[in-house]
Amino acid sequence: MLLSLKSLSIAIALLPLVVANIQDIQTRDNTIERRVYFLFSASASIINVPCFELADPVIAINPTDANFGVSAVAPGRFVTSADGTQIFAEARGDPSKPAIVFIHGFGIGAMAFNDIFNDPVWLARAYLVRYDTRGHGRSDKPTNAAAWVSQRLAQDFDAVVQSYSLNKPFVLGWSFGAANVADILSFHPPSYISGIIYDAGLPYLAALPNVGSPAGFAVVPGLNQTTNVTQFQTSYIEFINLCHPALEWNFYLGCLGDGVVQPRIILDLGFTRTQNSTGLLQAGTTGALPLLAIFGGDDKVVLKQGVLDAIAGWQNLTVVTLPDAEHFTWISRPLLFRATVLNWIDQHA
Ligand SMILES: *[C@@H]1O[C@H](CO)[C@@H](O)[C@H](O)[C@H]1NC(C)=O
Ligand SMILES: *[C@@H]1O[C@H](CO)[C@@H](O)[C@H](O)[C@H]1NC(C)=O
Ligand SMILES: *[C@@H]1O[C@H](CO)[C@@H](O)[C@H](O)[C@H]1NC(C)=O
Ligand SMILES: *[C@@H]1O[C@H](CO)[C@@H](O)[C@H](O)[C@H]1NC(C)=O
Repeated sequence: MLLSLKSLSIAIALLPLVVANIQDIQTRDNTIERRVYFLFSASASIINVPCFELADPVIAINPTDANFGVSAVAPGRFVTSADGTQIFAEARGDPSKPAIVFIHGFGIGAMAFNDIFNDPVWLARAYLVRYDTRGHGRSDKPTNAAAWVSQRLAQDFDAVVQSYSLNKPFVLGWSFGAANVADILSFHPPSYISGIIYDAGLPYLAALPNVGSPAGFAVVPGLNQTTNVTQFQTSYIEFINLCHPALEWNFYLGCLGDGVVQPRIILDLGFTRTQNSTGLLQAGTTGALPLLAIFGGDDKVVLKQGVLDAIAGWQNLTVVTLPDAEHFTWISRPLLFRATVLNWIDQHA
């Protein structure tokens, strides 16, 4: 017998004593199946309710100038990076399972990973950690060049690792965010982390000319100029559409919002900063770190061959292309993406 929430609540209101037992059972599609057993009936009534799990306390975020007055309430915490920059971070899932730190790409902050962080299967099989990188989302957005040297971005990651007491986490870098792994491995030995997952990932900034698609580069002039509002609007919308042409509306608005809270100069600061890729590439060519490189078969932002060329000689490399997947690979192919990452982690944890 299937009941709507409303009819169930009416039934419960009318018969307050007959509900004998309520069991919540996890289903495979982001919902909890709630089985309500009645005293007078051998069969259960089943309703489906959306499921999500929050591990951190809910805190209010104080608006600051650096955030353009952004104020929001969200689960998570601010961690302080070595130079004082406030980084917004969040963890969910099972802390006894392998930790995965998710690093988002350009423009769209850590909210990009919402579908993953709301999924009971991901939450049961890993400890999921994400943060807004400096210049993004709820984190501070410094606009001085000194705040954008390589070590600062490695220190942001360090602050998150320390705050959540992570021991050798896996790092999953999406798109432009994958380049942060090169920063991390410039200041730490490979043993600091357990492995790398590039999801349509840019290995390091010097590889950008071969990794970015012509369509991706075409929107850049509209995103880093500050004189034409119309051009910014159309370019940012085009950028989101390139990432995925048919996003759920609220999520789409979140992606657009992350663009609006970002000072335009962050693009130049983030894209033109200097990196040393030696530590990253040595970790690969010596076999010290395993790498899972995931690609979307229909990605319109990142060129797969450019990524593979940039990491030529990597010893412990697994390459998986998700058929028909857009740049938002895990939104296009949620089950395949999840199985690819979690099975690989089980083999390398
Ligand atoms: C925008 O970025 C491109 C590519 O990095 C650069 O050549 C250009 O000078 C930038 N424009 C502005 C206004 O910052
Ligand atoms: C601003 O950008 C729009 C869209 O790219 C363009 O059509 C328009 O001519 C631009 N306006 C100015 C004043 O450059
Ligand atoms: C890059 O890092 C390596 C050590 O990992 C170092 O030997 C090299 O000098 C660095 N390159 C630059 C340009 O700083
Ligand atoms: C890749 O790394 C994992 C451990 O992270 C190891 O178990 C496996 O043997 C390595 N494979 C190769 C081909 O080196």
